Amino acid sequence: MNKQAVQKLKLLASGILSRFEENKDLFLEVSGSCQSGTVSYPFSLIFDGEQYVLTFQKESTRGVFSELFHSLVSQANLYDELELTYADRTGRLMLRADNKNVTTKSDNKVAEVSKGEEKHLISPKAANKLLTVLDFVSDNGKLKNTHVRKFTQAEHFIELLVPYLKKLPSDREIMVYDLACGKSYLSFFLNFYLCDVMKRRCRIIGVDIREDVVEASKKIRDELKYYNMDFYCADILEFAPPTRMDVAISLHACDVATDFAIAAAVNNGAQIAAIAPCCHKEFLPTIGNEEMPYLFENGIFKKRFSDLLTDIYRVKTLEEHGYSVTATEFVSPLETPKNLLILAEKANHSTISNEATRQIKQTFSVDPILEKLIF
Ligand SMILES: C[S@@+](CC[C@H](N)C(=O)[O-])C[C@H]1O[C@@H](n2cnc3c(N)ncnc32)[C@H](O)[C@@H]1O
Repeated sequence: MNKQAVQKLKLLASGILSRFEENKDLFLEVSGSCQSGTVSYPFSLIFDGEQYVLTFQKESTRGVFSELFHSLVSQANLYDELELTYADRTGRLMLRADNKNVTTKSDNKVAEVSKGEEKHLISPKAANKLLTVLDFVSDNGKLKNTHVRKFTQAEHFIELLVPYLKKLPSDREIMVYDLACGKSYLSFFLNFYLCDVMKRRCRIIGVDIREDVVEASKKIRDELKYYNMDFYCADILEFAPPTRMDVAISLHACDVATDFAIAAAVNNGAQIAAIAPCCHKEFLPTIGNEEMPYLFENGIFKKRFSDLLTDIYRVKTLEEHGYSVTATEFVSPLETPKNLLILAEKANHSTISNEATRQIKQTFSVDPILEKLIF
């Protein structure tokens, strides 16, 4: 290849290097070949979980990505032609160079759902590796009956969240925190949807108080090579997020842990909070009203009223802190009775009066922990 072509190639290669620096954790591989006459010399540059490995001319070299990539590109002058594909989870960039031309082409089309899978937001076919590692599919690639419910919950949760995610600035990583992540299957699906389907850069951080589920999540992350995900063993109450929090998600955080998640979202200025509450225990021991004692005569009504009031209090608290809030059933109550999704988006208006929460506390003799957690 002549000097001019090599120079142009190096310029375009420096663009690839910047893309790598920005999307390091989403990197998949560099592959291609150098041609000399009719002979082709394939190469690949991958991350093996610990180091980058360049394989070229039957030799493997380990080291830093930028140095290996440089050494590959700087050998181009020895060949007639070079074809290289840089792939990360948000798309591919193809580079072709010979004496006549140096060209690039990118392919970051939003993934299409294949025929027969239209009812899915996440195509089980496209997400086969993810579903296999999560143990959601059997050998024939079909969702296991035992896991359909969890998959549907995650899909519907994400489906309702996506319109909000689309409004976030597209020029920076979306920072998502999954509070009380458990084994993090919701986070793994969201990560797949954001990166592999929406082609958006994101970082997802899961937090859970149980060490075993955090370790299990890390193992799955490593197996999937989802290096843009991290997990912390911590109480949400005490957890200090290492980065900005754009989005807080929480699926079935036990009892008041849901309030811890809401407080973490508000205190850390999350733009979006998507919270599906779990069991409710907090209001039941004290709830009552002297003027309307009949509301609480029946044990089931008392329990249901107390659960409902807890969630109304949560919604009103979010509104009082400047969020615009909707509450919807994200799956059928036949799937799970814990099917409420509170979706809150930071609105432009400033905080509003705390009249609603004050009234709830006074009228029904409850003393919500959430009030004490937000500062
Ligand atoms: C019902 S599981 C839900 C897990 C996961 N979100 C899911 O939907 O599969 C509730 C999780 O909340 C976690 N948890 C409860 N209290 C917590 C707290 N204070 N801080 C962090 N995690 C908590 C538990 O360890 C458990 O993993």
